[in-house]
Amino acid sequence: MLNIITIIGARPQIIKAAALSRILRTSYSYEVCERILHTGQHYDTLMSDVFFGEMNIPIPTFNLNVGSGDQAWQIAHMIEGITDILKQEKPDGVVIYGDTNSTLAGALATCRLQIPLFHIEAGLRSHYMPMPEEQNRIVADHFANICFAPTQTAMQNLAREGLIHSPTQFGEQRKGREAILSGDIMLDNAIHYGAQAKHSTALSSLGLDGIPYMLATIHRDFNTDNTDKRDSLFASLDILSKHSGIPIIIPAHPRISQSLQHYIQSTHSHLRAIPPASYLQMLALEQGACMIITDSGGVQKEAYFFHKPCLVLRHETEWIEIVEQQAAILTDTESDSLIDAFERIQAAQPHYPPLFGDGHAAEIIAEHIINY
Ligand code: UD1
Ligand code: UDP
Repeated sequence: MLNIITIIGARPQIIKAAALSRILRTSYSYEVCERILHTGQHYDTLMSDVFFGEMNIPIPTFNLNVGSGDQAWQIAHMIEGITDILKQEKPDGVVIYGDTNSTLAGALATCRLQIPLFHIEAGLRSHYMPMPEEQNRIVADHFANICFAPTQTAMQNLAREGLIHSPTQFGEQRKGREAILSGDIMLDNAIHYGAQAKHSTALSSLGLDGIPYMLATIHRDFNTDNTDKRDSLFASLDILSKHSGIPIIIPAHPRISQSLQHYIQSTHSHLRAIPPASYLQMLALEQGACMIITDSGGVQKEAYFFHKPCLVLRHETEWIEIVEQQAAILTDTESDSLIDAFERIQAAQPHYPPLFGDGHAAEIIAEHIINY
């Protein structure tokens, strides 16, 4: 029996972990024992607990309860806590997801202890190094024994950095490295839960059944940390909503919930803030929306999965293939730019080839981890 520890911490990692956990429990329960280590990076009920219940994810065996704070402090506490658990449990391998601070801490702690490391959603590059996520994902890729790439572009990025095949650089206990094109594990979940979400009462409970609306999510530090920039973004969305006559629904990340409420009340804005959505609620909102506006990585992809036009509130994206297919447009957050992007995406003729695999990434990943 293989002992695997999966490290998660932030909302998108909990969601991604659901797909592999599901496969390990249903198809590989005699071969693999997976236990979950939650760093506690996200801790509000609607940022964490809700997904465990809704997506039937095993309750974490370990929870570091690290919480929020200065990034160096947060990462240091995670590394310390993860190291203690890995030393005690001596797992056969560690799984990490994506590019958050929890990913970075997991990669560093695991590599130091010479435990095999498997990085899911590897090979992404925004080529914007100041972004913490870009730093985190580069370290995770370079320390991983297997990099599971969601797309061909990600494979090419790994090849450019010499990460496709190489003999071990990590000591005797860890074999050489490889990169596998697995497809995107988020597509597995979107397919598994998409229909259930569409037929749920999520939209009617929000009074949105049959009503055209746009869906927006905002949480990147560069859009939220500066008060003026953040308020000007809210104002731009407001202007776009008035210009188009279409309401904008915003499930508000904790980074913006207070300021958005304050903005809406003080300006009598028509933007509609709701609490962070559960995963099923979010999939329902995405499928019902006529357009998606976001700075999230995962939401950009889900817009593509559901063939929804998407405005990306960033200057660059690691999901460049979505932009190349004209399914998304990168835009500044000033109102003129946003309205221009809104008009252009409506005139675009997007294509939706299966860039992210066929929804069976978790099976491919499980097979490779077991055979490693
Ligand atoms: C983090 C990830 C980002 C990911 C996002 C997913 C890093 C560097 N960033 O960004 O890559 O896209 O998660 O949502 O790892 N907060 C709460 N309750 C919570 C969690 C956070 O109130 O449960 C508030 C705290 O004030 C905290 C702030 O949100 O300081 C930011 O949280 P943090 O985890 O540092 O970054 P995210 O913006 O969530
Ligand atoms: N998501 C959710 N509720 C929300 C916003 C997002 O369930 O209110 C889901 C979304 O459907 C996707 C994932 O969270 O599966 C994306 O996470 P997030 O936007 O927090 O981070 P990122 O993908 O940018 O790292």
